[in-house]
Amino acid sequence: MLKHTAIVGTQWGDEGKGKIVDHLAKKFGVVVRYQGGPNAGHTVVVGKEKFALHLIPSGILQSDKMCVIGDGVLLHPETLVGELTDLHKRVGKLARLVVGLKTQLIMPWHIALDGIAGGKVGTTKRGIGPAYADATARRGIRVMEALDKKRFSVRVKEEAAWNKKMIGVYEKHFGVKPKERKDYGLIGVTDATKIIREYRRYFSQLKRFGVGFADTSETLTKAEKRGQRILFEGAQATLLDITHGDYPFVTSSHPTVGGLFIGTGFRPRELSVIGVAKAYSTRVGNGPFPSELTNKIGEGMRERGHEYGTTTGRPRRCGWLDLVIIRYAARINGLDEIAMTKLDVLTGLKTLKVCVGYRLGGRKITEYPADVTVLERCRPVYRTLRGWNEDISKVRRFSELPRAAREYVQFVEKACGLPVKLVGVGPGRQEIVTR
Ligand code: IMP
Repeated sequence: MLKHTAIVGTQWGDEGKGKIVDHLAKKFGVVVRYQGGPNAGHTVVVGKEKFALHLIPSGILQSDKMCVIGDGVLLHPETLVGELTDLHKRVGKLARLVVGLKTQLIMPWHIALDGIAGGKVGTTKRGIGPAYADATARRGIRVMEALDKKRFSVRVKEEAAWNKKMIGVYEKHFGVKPKERKDYGLIGVTDATKIIREYRRYFSQLKRFGVGFADTSETLTKAEKRGQRILFEGAQATLLDITHGDYPFVTSSHPTVGGLFIGTGFRPRELSVIGVAKAYSTRVGNGPFPSELTNKIGEGMRERGHEYGTTTGRPRRCGWLDLVIIRYAARINGLDEIAMTKLDVLTGLKTLKVCVGYRLGGRKITEYPADVTVLERCRPVYRTLRGWNEDISKVRRFSELPRAAREYVQFVEKACGLPVKLVGVGPGRQEIVTR
């Protein structure tokens, strides 16, 4: 039986999943995104070139692959065209790209509505929440409709008229002033004629780039029959899952492993699940963060780890590694192993702390609370470990890491009951320790 693999984020995103996908992709014929949209930002560094991918699976740089944007993803055609244009300029031959016919589109009004209402959560303002809300409310426009001129034009006109009213309601409720309409990107967002013209242009460009449109369930089933292994690339992460994350400070999709069944219409017979955990914690946007460091140590992590959002450029909040979270992610996703990224960022710290539980009043808690208001009251319980000073970026064998670095990784393995098989020691493609 062929064994497929899913890569999921164990924390709040930005764990460096792109690098792990890129590293593993050579063993797979197909790389698939199954949820999220251009709110994601996966960075892959090849030589001196840095690629920030928002919609395209990280396997795109390997020309012998097929990359699939599954039906559970939100497609923003302009972003996809932009990414492909850039990639074609900088890379010779790319992987073949297929987009699901049932994939929902992000329309200009989704971005406008997110811009008005997304402040409390601190969204990426890419229209994610409103687009998934429309999909669930059965108002969404899908890729298959965009490929049919007449149908698309009818649907855009219908939805533009509806959203014009919705935007009026939002503006009134959130007190958007007329002079602010431009800042919110509200001008022209319901101009159906313009939108139809632009979206048609994007789809023609996608076709010219050789993008295929298909039923991803069929595409993946056929690939499996041909004997190809499939790599599922989760975007965002466990704690941002709409159901299992710290609601309401979450994204609107299912980044957990369950999302891949719905997001592709494919049930892998054999699946190995790798959870990617950064060696410390980061979060962008609002919401609780028990092990957050608002001091010099946190600032140091941000600077050394370049912890600024790939999508929005926002500085990320930084803190110690939280094993309550990693164990929770292991349970929710049924993890088989962990890939730890950015261990090098901790180099130079004399001592390291790892959160092993929470204190709530007089009680010690070791399981991640289901209720965000409980989590907000939790205080971290730390174990202190030794740090190391040596540069580890050239190390490729686990046994060659400084003893304290090995102990750090082994501490995580023991606490989570899972092996850590990959350790990232620098941003580059080669800077990885395999075990
Ligand atoms: P949205 O996905 O734009 O609706 O944002 C909802 C929450 O998820 C916000 O806290 C965002 O900062 C966070 N978020 C969304 N995508 C990512 C990501 O790729 N990495 C990290 N955080 C993300």
